[in-house]
Amino acid sequence: TKVALVKGGYTGEAEVSFKSAAFVYAQIDKNKYDVFPITVSLDSWFYEDESGNKHEVDRQDFSIKLDGESIRFDVAFIIIHGVPGEDGRLQGYFDMIGLPYTSCTALTSALTMNKGYTKAIVQDIQEINVAKSVLLFEEHRSKAADLVLEKLSLPIFVKPNAGGSSIGMSKVSDWSELRKALDDAYDAENTGYQVLVEEFVTGREFSQGIYRDSKGVLQVLPATEVRTTREFFDYEAKYTPGLTEEITPADLNEEQKERADRIIKEIYIRLNCKGMVRIDFFIENNTDKFFFIEINTVPGQTAQSFIPQQVRASGRTETAFYGELIEAALT
Ligand code: DAL
Ligand code: MG
Repeated sequence: TKVALVKGGYTGEAEVSFKSAAFVYAQIDKNKYDVFPITVSLDSWFYEDESGNKHEVDRQDFSIKLDGESIRFDVAFIIIHGVPGEDGRLQGYFDMIGLPYTSCTALTSALTMNKGYTKAIVQDIQEINVAKSVLLFEEHRSKAADLVLEKLSLPIFVKPNAGGSSIGMSKVSDWSELRKALDDAYDAENTGYQVLVEEFVTGREFSQGIYRDSKGVLQVLPATEVRTTREFFDYEAKYTPGLTEEITPADLNEEQKERADRIIKEIYIRLNCKGMVRIDFFIENNTDKFFFIEINTVPGQTAQSFIPQQVRASGRTETAFYGELIEAALT
C-alpha cells in the first residue's frame, strides 16, 4: 500500500505539521506501507526522497515520477493542520481525483475549521454548553471592539475563527488590551479575517480523541487534562515540553467520564466525522457542566501532542493506531 503522508500547509501551523508528520512517519509500519512524505506549500508540492532530492507532484492525479516511473498513491494520510489540509480544500481535490484520505469529508472539514459555525451546530446537542461569544467578520473590523464590549464580560479569549495551535490568540483581562488582541486575530496568516471572541469559562480543561476503526466501530480514547501555569494553553505551552502538566488519562469520576465519552461520540456522529478527531472542552467548576470549545479534524501528532499520549494510555501502540486509520480510509 502506497501512502502519501501529506504535510506542510499555508498557515503558521506548517511548523507543527512538519513535526507531526515526522512523528507519524517514524511510527508507521514500513513493512506494511510504503510511505512517501509529500510537502504541500503555497509555492510547490513535492516529494523529498531520502537523499534530499525533490520530485514535483503532478497535480492532475497527485502522482510523482521516480526514475521515469509514475507512482500513484493508494491513500493520502493528511497531516496538515489548517489550510489547505484541515479545511476541506485538499479533501475536495482528493475526492475529485478519486484518492482516499484519512480525514473528515470536505464538508465536515470546512465546517469544523470555522469555530463559530461549529458552535452553532453542536450547542443543540443534549448536555452541551458553549461559552457566550461574538463572531466577527471582516466587515465588522472597524467597530469590532464596540461589538465585543456591548455583549461580553471580561476575561475573554480572542482568536482567529479558523485558526489553530493558539496562533493569533490572546486572553484579554483588561479592555485596554482588546484592540491589539483583535488585530492579532484578524491578521493571523491565512485564517480568513474572521474573529471569535468568547467569554472565559472557569473550569478544568480537557482534550479527547475519537476515531472510527477499520470495522466501522467508534473508539473513544481516554481524555487528557491540561494544567498550564501560563495565562492559557498558548503556542509555547502546547509545544514546549514541561510548560504544561498534561494528565492522561484525566482524573474524572465515573459519571464525568461516561458523560464526556457519550457527548464526544454524539459530536462525532452529528458532524459526520471520519478518521481521528480531537475535541477540546471544559468542565465548569461548581456546575460540572460540559462546555464545548472546538473540534480539530487534523489533530497534532507531535511527540508532545495529546493523541499519541492517549493512544499509549489506552494500551494501543501508535504503529497499530496509524495502521488502523489507513485501513479505515481504505474501506
Ligand atoms: N491545531 C493543532 C495542531 C491541534 O489541534 O492539535
Ligand atoms: Mg485547535
